[in-house]
Amino acid sequence: PLIFAITPTYKRWTQKADLTQLCQTLSHISNLRWIVVEDSEQKTPLVTNLLSHCPVNSTHLNFRTSQSLLNIVNTTDKKPQVKKPRGIEQRNTALKWLRRQYRHGEVKGVVYFADDDNTYDLRVFDEMRPTKMVSVWPVGLAGGLKFEGPICVGDSVKQWYAYWARDRKFQIDFAGFAVNIDIILNTKALILTTSKPGYIENDFLEQLIEFYDLEPKANSCQSVLVWHTRTEKPQMFYEEQLNKMGHPSNPGIEV
Ligand code: UGA
Ligand code: MN
Repeated sequence: PLIFAITPTYKRWTQKADLTQLCQTLSHISNLRWIVVEDSEQKTPLVTNLLSHCPVNSTHLNFRTSQSLLNIVNTTDKKPQVKKPRGIEQRNTALKWLRRQYRHGEVKGVVYFADDDNTYDLRVFDEMRPTKMVSVWPVGLAGGLKFEGPICVGDSVKQWYAYWARDRKFQIDFAGFAVNIDIILNTKALILTTSKPGYIENDFLEQLIEFYDLEPKANSCQSVLVWHTRTEKPQMFYEEQLNKMGHPSNPGIEV
């Protein structure tokens, strides 16, 4: 089976560094198509160039997060800890692309959402490749815990290890599951822009399968093979100082 890795990405100081790392990780995996969806009006030269130097088979798409979504979120967000949803419409852009490309049964494959700043052990791709419906495994450093995700006994999921939103049927981060492409092609499931924060993955999975369909992977959910690392926003204080002092850096140097 072919792995379709879907990566939403947006302009931030670490974007090129994050995508370089992810390209180099994915370049070790055979039979993989990397679907990179930029959160931008236009495909940017930075991502276009990066993909042209990256040995991974890729598809480059773009979709700028709608102003309406940003507006709703900004005006209704009273609690500062409730952050705006990220990457939703970009993941949907990739799902719609897959549905335009393939009919049910036309391709053997697995769909995985691979955010640009996570850390992936190469073995997680071996684990997900034979997915029949939806496979699951724990995600390190997610949900304010050492790991978040399924607690498994043998071939079945028994419960979840999570702190937030414990009423979710599927208490798992995007990095902790993969879906057989036929399930994607058989349904019209999308990531919902109306999901409550913390419920996005759950609300997507509820459109696809039942709890008992889950397939535990990674040593019956006892190995952490992916981490929800987050790149730190770099300090640009001195960059701004030098700029103000009339010594800006060379704009021709892409970082
Ligand atoms: C966490 C989860 O791990 C994500 O799967 C989930 O989408 C996100 O929360 C959320 O819903 O808020 P986190 O590390 O907090 O992820 O978020 P980011 O890494 O900043 O963003 C997730 C993905 O969306 C990244 O690939 C990022 O490049 C992309 N993104 C982020 C956009 O495309 N546009 C944005 O405006 C922000
Ligand atoms: Mn992240």
